[in-house]
Amino acid sequence: MPHICICSQFTSSPIDQFNKDPKASPIATNGEIFPWHELRLPTVIIPLHYDLLIHPNLTSLDFVASEKIEVLVRDATQFIVLHSKDLEILNASLQSEEDVRYRKPGESLTVLSYPAHQQIALLVPEKLRADLRYSVAIDFQAKLADGFEGFYKSTYRTLGGETRTIAVTDFEPTEARMAFPCFDEPLFKANFSIKIRRESRHIALSNMPKVKTIELEGGLLEDHFETTVKMSTYLVAYIVCDFTSVSGTASSGVKVSIYASPDKWSQTHYALEASLKLLDCYENYFDIHYPLPKLDLVAIPDFASGAMENWGLVTYRETSLLFDPKKSSISDKLWVTKVIAHELAHQWFGNLVTMEWWNDIWLNEGFATYMELISLNITYPELQFDDDFSNTCFEVIKRDSLNSSHPISNQAKTAIQIKEMFDAVSYNKGACILNMLKDFLSEDTFRKGIIHYLKKFSYRNAKNDDLWHSLSNNCLESDSASGGFCYSDSKKTSNTLVFLRKNVELKEMMATWTLQKGIPLVVVKREGRSLRLQQERFLSGVSKEDPEWGTLQERYLWHIPVTYSTSSSHAIHRHILKLKTDTLDLSEKTDWVKFNVDSNGYYIVHYEGQGWDELITLLNRNHTLLRPKDRLGLIHDAFQLVSAGRLTLDKALDLTRYLQRETSIPALLKGLEYLELLYRMVERRNISDVTENLKHYLLQYFKPVIDTQSWVDKGSVWDRMLRSTVLKLACYLNHAPCIQKATELFSQWMESSGKLNIPTDVLKVVYSVGAQTTAGWNYLLEQYELSLSGAEKNKILYALSTSKHQEKLMKLIELGMEGKVIKTQDLAALLFAIARNPEGQQLAWNFVKENWTHLLKKFDLGSFPIRMIVSGTTSHFSSKDELQEVELFFESLKAQGSHLDIFQIILETISKNIKWLEKNLPTLRKWLLITT
Ligand code: BES
Ligand code: ZN
Repeated sequence: MPHICICSQFTSSPIDQFNKDPKASPIATNGEIFPWHELRLPTVIIPLHYDLLIHPNLTSLDFVASEKIEVLVRDATQFIVLHSKDLEILNASLQSEEDVRYRKPGESLTVLSYPAHQQIALLVPEKLRADLRYSVAIDFQAKLADGFEGFYKSTYRTLGGETRTIAVTDFEPTEARMAFPCFDEPLFKANFSIKIRRESRHIALSNMPKVKTIELEGGLLEDHFETTVKMSTYLVAYIVCDFTSVSGTASSGVKVSIYASPDKWSQTHYALEASLKLLDCYENYFDIHYPLPKLDLVAIPDFASGAMENWGLVTYRETSLLFDPKKSSISDKLWVTKVIAHELAHQWFGNLVTMEWWNDIWLNEGFATYMELISLNITYPELQFDDDFSNTCFEVIKRDSLNSSHPISNQAKTAIQIKEMFDAVSYNKGACILNMLKDFLSEDTFRKGIIHYLKKFSYRNAKNDDLWHSLSNNCLESDSASGGFCYSDSKKTSNTLVFLRKNVELKEMMATWTLQKGIPLVVVKREGRSLRLQQERFLSGVSKEDPEWGTLQERYLWHIPVTYSTSSSHAIHRHILKLKTDTLDLSEKTDWVKFNVDSNGYYIVHYEGQGWDELITLLNRNHTLLRPKDRLGLIHDAFQLVSAGRLTLDKALDLTRYLQRETSIPALLKGLEYLELLYRMVERRNISDVTENLKHYLLQYFKPVIDTQSWVDKGSVWDRMLRSTVLKLACYLNHAPCIQKATELFSQWMESSGKLNIPTDVLKVVYSVGAQTTAGWNYLLEQYELSLSGAEKNKILYALSTSKHQEKLMKLIELGMEGKVIKTQDLAALLFAIARNPEGQQLAWNFVKENWTHLLKKFDLGSFPIRMIVSGTTSHFSSKDELQEVELFFESLKAQGSHLDIFQIILETISKNIKWLEKNLPTLRKWLLITT
């Protein structure tokens, strides 16, 4: 066995902790051998408790800190490996339990640093003994970070024009190590006792309530916070700021507060109402108390993502928390409610029970996304969120039907790979398969199962199999007598559910959805009273005739819980399609069959033979014979099938012809969305004859719905969503009455010096029309600077980005890069919006290519903003030249060492767009000629 010497004072070490190949030993910054070569930390030492003292200086923009970590040694070792990134370690020492007891000072430790793995190693002079506890003390300091990660600074301007600075943390997934040296993996749960020093003009917030404040010499104050429950490092949080708050008490006695910068205090009230309701809802639904005494929700002026679920101290982008009744539209309200619901769900799914490793981040994010649906249905039925859930699934299907997709549970090793896991597959597909499973198991069984899971794994970590096990064995000892799928039949294996008198292995079934990428296509053929079913892998952009089709199908098989309804009964029929092909017998003769009832299943359905024609006839004759979500699903599936070459575009378009009579707004909006997508595609490519005819068709065909829209904030949520969408489209298509009304409102608004209240749902359209003149554009930019409403600022920024003048668009990009008037946090959305504008698409793309290194200084590779910038400025391309340009660019990035999974997704998307146009443009052209 090789004998490895770390440095002169050490003789030997447990071999399993070492690189087996000494040649590959990592070298620490001081030239010595770093004793650990893996990205994951050794498990011989586990942290139990952290004592943290942090003193940020908001004037010099840095912090000094110290920590004591109590660790348990499981196996004898001579070094302690921790994560640490961009921290200057001043001193490290070690005490044994005995040393602590007898107040013996700590022994100083040698610190080695290996930045490539963001690790430090503390070398101990004498082997640490197994089963003993030690206390590691570290003093360190750093600058407050410039970006949006770790312990970073954020600034805002007061109404009086003063710029103020706050310091805030954002750690998930791997940035706690930027704030304090720690065992920064979700499995290393520990308790944290946090102390923060601050000036008296500030307040400090952390996960737990403050127990006391000590006054130090020189007037500094030191807040001591209660010790946390056992939790992962990525959920630790603290903020030093001068914010004000509103508070309330939930039914269980938990104090809930909403914090924002002082001038935005008035926008916090809706969030308070919503978070109180939602906290009550979750405590009831999970039958588990929120375990902390308080919950703070804080609106942070600079925030990279939408929100972060730090336990007891949830942080939000301002637009995800604040609601200004004068400026926030119904969709803004829906967003705020949804984000609060999401982050509060994490207090259980994620915080109380955490995935073992980032490969299963869907156990956090998929559940939080799914719980949005459950909790909003209970707390805010009037928001009709349920009707929007299918879109959550449709959004990810686009991506999951490409070969470059990945399974829900996916390997993730490096920090970048871990970040890339936070994507639509983890969030949306995760939520959609949970919804499908709930539909299959029944709400009650599903709920019992997840309660079982949460209770069993509280303050611990879980993996996929633990969830499936809990869902199929949901009997807590206390309720083993209850019905449903809770049983203890010794003849069945523990994961077997009795369903349809057949045994279904839940784990086996769910493995087909979580360990296998992609989405199945169920092909249905009706032959008399029998239904022939066939499953295959659905691939958009690849048709059955393509040579690669066969290989891409190999070894894919799902256990699909299919549902269907027929013309002869309202009942929902169920079947599990486990094989490639299967046959079902109908008990009666029927005119039509519709699969995937209410679009609850994660699969696409194709009807062979007369199937689609029967459904189109049905929609035209009496669409209300189908359920609204079934109509929505048909529109979606039809257009997806066009991309896969299974259905011709004219069929899908024929299917939308009934929309003139459609009474369900989500279905109508889905149809309009596809038509608008076609319009934008041909417009971007300057295919003027089709563009003009399609515009004419849209304005003629949807005239009744356009002309009946009023310019007020009235009606149900969906009435209001329809109004926003339809008027935005009508004005975009230059519909004269729309432009006229918007212009009129915009002029009145300008004349009133911005004081006039324009109905919030039409604000975006009015601003966008107003932005088309130079005077209007300039005025909007002025108002952008002045506005205190994030919701309004987003609308103005969007409007500004629709200008036809390149120099104006360039000015926006410059402002976004400068980060003063347009904050860096909004740069990604800005570039995305400019790239959608036909006049801006080239500009945005060229900018990204030329300024890649500057962008990487602002955002981490793999982070959400970078992915949004790259895909936002490229994935709409649809020509071979564009594809080649993008390919070249990605190659050059890879050569510089930047590699992202989305590169492949984008290239596949562009290739798909090219094929789509080649194949369907002639059909579209012809269809428009016949139809209009
Ligand atoms: N846990 C995430 C925040 C996060 C995102 C951490 C990406 C690390 C990487 C949080 O719960 C979240 O999902 N936020 C969403 C909003 C949500 C409503 C979908 C976001 O930031 O977009
Ligand atoms: Zn989340």
